[in-house]
Amino acid sequence: MIEERDRLRALVGAGIALSSARSLDELLQRLVETAAALTGARYAALGVIDREGQALERFITTGIDGAVRTAIGDPPHGRGILGVLIRDAETLRLHDISDDPRSVGFPPNHPPMRAFLGVPVMLRDVAYGNLYLTEKAGGADFDEEDEEMVGLLAAQAAVAIENARLYETATRWSSQLEALNEIGTALASEIKLPRVLALITEHLRKLIDARLVAIALPRPDGTLVIEAADGDSAAEMLGRQLERAGSKSGRVLERARAERVDDLRADPEVDYEVARPLAATTGLYVPLVARHRVIGVVVAHDKVGDDPRFSDDDLRLAEQFAIRAAVAVDQSARVARDALRRVVEAQELERRRLARELHDQTGQELTSVILGLKAVEEAQDPAGHAEALEQVRAQVVETLHDVRRLAVELRPKALDDFGLVAAIERLVQTFGEQTGIKVDLVAQLADERLASDVETALYRMVQEALTNIVKHAQAASVSIVIGRSAAAVSAVVEDDGRGFDTAARREGMGLDGMQERLALLDGRLKIESRPGAGTTLVGEVPLR
Ligand SMILES: Nc1ncnc2c1ncn2[C@@H]1O[C@H](COP(=O)(O)OP(=O)(O)OP(=O)(O)O)[C@@H](O)[C@H]1O
Ligand SMILES: [Mg+2]
Repeated sequence: MIEERDRLRALVGAGIALSSARSLDELLQRLVETAAALTGARYAALGVIDREGQALERFITTGIDGAVRTAIGDPPHGRGILGVLIRDAETLRLHDISDDPRSVGFPPNHPPMRAFLGVPVMLRDVAYGNLYLTEKAGGADFDEEDEEMVGLLAAQAAVAIENARLYETATRWSSQLEALNEIGTALASEIKLPRVLALITEHLRKLIDARLVAIALPRPDGTLVIEAADGDSAAEMLGRQLERAGSKSGRVLERARAERVDDLRADPEVDYEVARPLAATTGLYVPLVARHRVIGVVVAHDKVGDDPRFSDDDLRLAEQFAIRAAVAVDQSARVARDALRRVVEAQELERRRLARELHDQTGQELTSVILGLKAVEEAQDPAGHAEALEQVRAQVVETLHDVRRLAVELRPKALDDFGLVAAIERLVQTFGEQTGIKVDLVAQLADERLASDVETALYRMVQEALTNIVKHAQAASVSIVIGRSAAAVSAVVEDDGRGFDTAARREGMGLDGMQERLALLDGRLKIESRPGAGTTLVGEVPLR
C-alpha cells in the first residue's frame, strides 16, 4: 500500500510537471503516469475529446507497451464504456468492466481489464475528456480515495488542455486578423489587382494549411481562368483554363453557393485541370460575389497533415477572404470601365470640336471658294478675271492650310515619322508663329523612339498645355522640357502667365483629359499654379 505522504508528494510533483512540460502531450503523459502510480493501476489512459465533442482527438496511455499497442490496433473510438464516459461526463467505478451491460467488449489481443475507474476531465462544466484506470494491483477494486486523487489530476489535465486550446485559438485569431488587415490595407491603397489576389491566396493558404489555394475568374470570352495561385505547383496553375460546364468551379460559379468536398473521387464535378496534376483529394470552393453577381471562385485543395479534409472553420475563413477578393475584382473592373469611359468621352469631345471646326472653318472657306469661282465665271474683263482667280487661289491655299492643321491635330504625322521631340519642335514652331509667344524647348531625349502610346500621351499633353496658354494664360514666354531618366520620361510646360487656383472647380476637359491619358499608362500629372504666379504642368510616364 502506498503511503499517504508519498501520494501527496506525487500529486505535488504532477503539479510542478504542469509548469515544466514542454508540450501538452508531454504534460498529459506525466499526469497519466502519476495517476497510475498513485492508485496502483497497471494501465491508465487519458482520452481528449475533440472540439466538436464527438470523438477522441488524443489517447494517451501508460502500461501498454509498443508491441501490445500494435497488436490491439486503432485507439478506441469511444463506443461502449468509454462512450458512456464521453457522453455523460460522470465518474464511473466498476468491479469488472465486462459485467456492465453497456460494455461492448474488447478488441482481439487486448490485455484483460477488469477493475475500472473513469473520471471526467472537466473545467467549468466543459468536458475535455476522461482519465481511465484499470487493473489495480492485487486484483483489488478502486476506492473512494483513488477517485478523489484521480479527480485532482483530472482537474489539472483540464486546465492544461483548456490553456493549450485558448492559446491555439488566440494565435489563430491574431494571424487571421493580421492577414485580413493587410488585405484591407491593400484594397484601400489601390494596389493592382494581381497583387491583391496573390496576397489573398497566400494568406488564406497559410491560415487553412492548404496545399494549394487558387482564384479563378471568368474572362470576357466566357472561359474560366486561374488568375492567382499559391502553394504546390502554383506556377503551373497560373493562367490555366478550367472547363466551365463540367468543372466544380464552373458549377459553383453558377450555383453561387460555397461547397466543401471531403472526397473528390466521389464527386463527379471535379476540376481535372487542377485536381489531377495536384493529385488532390479534398476541396473547398467559395464563390466571389459582388453586388449579387458571381464574379469568380476561390478554390483550396488538401489540408496539409494526416487528415486532408477542411473544417467548417476553414470554410468560414475562405468565405471571409472571398468577400475581399470579390471587392478587389469588382473595384478593378470598375476602375477599368471608368478610365475607358473617360477616354472615349475625351475622344468624343475632340471629335466634336473637329467637326465644329470642319463646319465653321473649312466649310465657310469652301463656300467662299465657290463664291470666288462664281466671281471668276462672271468676270467681264481679263483683269477682273485674273484678280478673281487670284482670290480663289488664296482661299484654296488657306483652306488647305487649315485642313493640314486639322489633320495634325487628329494625328500629327511628324509623331509617327520622327518621334516625340520632332513633333513637339514643329508644334512649338507653329505656336510661336501664330501667337508671338516666345517658347524655349529643351529635350534630353534626342531622336530616341518611345512606345507609341507614350509618345501620343505626352504630345497631347504639350499640345493642350499650349492651347490653354493661348486661351487662358496671357503669358509672355513658355518653357518646355522633355526629360528622360532610366525609369521614366517627363514633359514640363511652364508659363509666366496669370495662373489659376488649382483647388477651384474646373469646367473644361483639357486638364482632366491629360490626367486620364497619363494615368492609363501608369503615369501622373502634377499641376502647379497660383493666381498671378504662372502655371507649371509636369507629366511623367514610367518606361516599361
Ligand atoms: N496655363 C494656364 N494659365 C492660366 N489658367 C489656366 C491655364 N491652364 C488652365 N487654366 C485654367 O484651368 C481651367 C481648366 O483648363 P482645362 O484645359 O481643363 O479646360 P479649358 O481649357 O477651360 O477647356 P477645354 O480644354 O476643355 O477646351 C481653365 O479654364 C483655366 O481657367
Ligand atoms: Mg484646355
